[in-house]
Parts: sequence; C-alpha cells; structure tokens
Amino acid sequence: MRSSFKNKIKMKIANILLKDIFAENYKFKYCHKSVSIKYNCSILNSEKISLSKNVKLNYGVVLQPGYWEISVGENSIINHYSCLYGDIKIGSNVMIAPHVMLAGGYHNTSRIDIPIMLQGDGSKGPIVIEDDVWIGANCVIMDGVTIGKGSVIGAGSVVTKDIQPYKIAFGNPAKIFKSRI
Ligand SMILES: CC(C)(COP(=O)(O)OP(=O)(O)OC[C@H]1O[C@@H](n2cnc3c(N)ncnc32)[C@H](O)[C@@H]1OP(=O)(O)O)[C@@H](O)C(=O)NCCC(=O)NCCS
Repeated sequence: MRSSFKNKIKMKIANILLKDIFAENYKFKYCHKSVSIKYNCSILNSEKISLSKNVKLNYGVVLQPGYWEISVGENSIINHYSCLYGDIKIGSNVMIAPHVMLAGGYHNTSRIDIPIMLQGDGSKGPIVIEDDVWIGANCVIMDGVTIGKGSVIGAGSVVTKDIQPYKIAFGNPAKIFKSRI
C-alpha cells in the first residue's frame, strides 16, 4: 500500500519533469499554438525558426539555423535526436525518423597553412524537404539537397544529390531504388 503510494508520487514528479516544453519559452519567428516540443530539445536562434500548425519535435531534437533559417510545415514530425543544422525548408506532412542529420553548410578547406576553422564557411543553398516525404532512421542529408514531394529515403542513407518526387531511394550515396508512380 505504502509503496504504491510512493510509486504514484514518483510518477507524478516524473510527469512534471518530462512534460512538453511550452513553445512560449522561445522567441520563434513563427510558432503555431498547436506545436509540441518534447523534453530535452536544443533550440538555438529561435528567432530564425518557423514552426507551422501541428508540428511535433520529439525528445532530444536539435534545431540550429546558424546564419540561416529553418521552417517546418504543417503536421510534420521530427523524431528523437534528429538534428537540423543550417538553411532548411521542410514542407507539410513530412516524417523524419530518429537520429537523422540535415547537414546544411560547409567549411572552406582550400588552404593548408591555417586551420580549417579559420577559413570561413558557407552554404550551397537550402536543404529542401518537400511535402509528404518520409526520411528513415539515421540518414544524413547533405548541404543544398532537395528531396522531392512524396519521396522515401531508406534508413541509413547519405543523400548527396537531389531526389526527384515520388522516388524510393537509399544507400551511401543514395540511389533511386524504385518509383512510387
Ligand atoms: C526504403 C524502404 C522503405 C524500402 O522498403 P521496401 O520497398 O519494403 O524494400 P524491401 O525491404 O523489399 O527491400 C528491397 C531491397 O532493398 C534493400 N534495402 C531496403 N532498404 C534499404 C536501406 N535502407 N539501405 C540499403 N538497402 C536497403 C533490401 O536489402 C532489399 O535488397 P535485396 O533485393 O537485394 O534483397 C525501407 O527498407 C526503409 O529503409 N524504411 C525506413 C525504416 C525506418 O527508418 N524506420 C524508422 C521509424 S519511422
């Protein structure tokens, strides 16, 4: 009896500690009131981030626009520990599985007389994930890549070039496996 009471108290405390983080804690460029941000997310430069209706950021997601901006369209879900870095435009109804890296930006490497970290950096353009895309677990999407509407990227892929709409692609580097239409 006593131990079940203790367990109930423990559960209450855990629920308070693990509750959704209220979006109002950040100064987003735009954030719809329905957005859900789970515990342990790391969000930097929130004034450069737009989150549309029903966007869900699951536990441990990292958003870091750097010099650029990140936008996420309606109903899109970014799952556990995925990391969005750089100039990123995500459409509506997109599903990003856990541990995905959207790796925007690059470092200049042409000189060998000074460290890479002092050579400046840039971006080839935004990473664009169009509507209704599913990106499998552990993928890396490289700087400037567009993944077309309705495409699927298989788990563990490294996407170095644009993927046309409604394709299923996977591998390193990702190649088209088949078309959905
Ligand atoms: C890409 C995917 C959708 C393809 O599914 P599918 O059409 O059912 O494909 P199959 O399982 O029939 O596999 C077809 C072939 O592709 C290979 N393959 C499938 N997915 C692969 C991947 N991610 N990487 C490398 N090869 C893959 C299979 O080994 C198989 O090869 P074979 O013909 O030589 O035996 C699926 O494999 C996938 O990666 N889903 C993502 C799962 C995920 O990340 N879930 C996280 C939770 S949301």
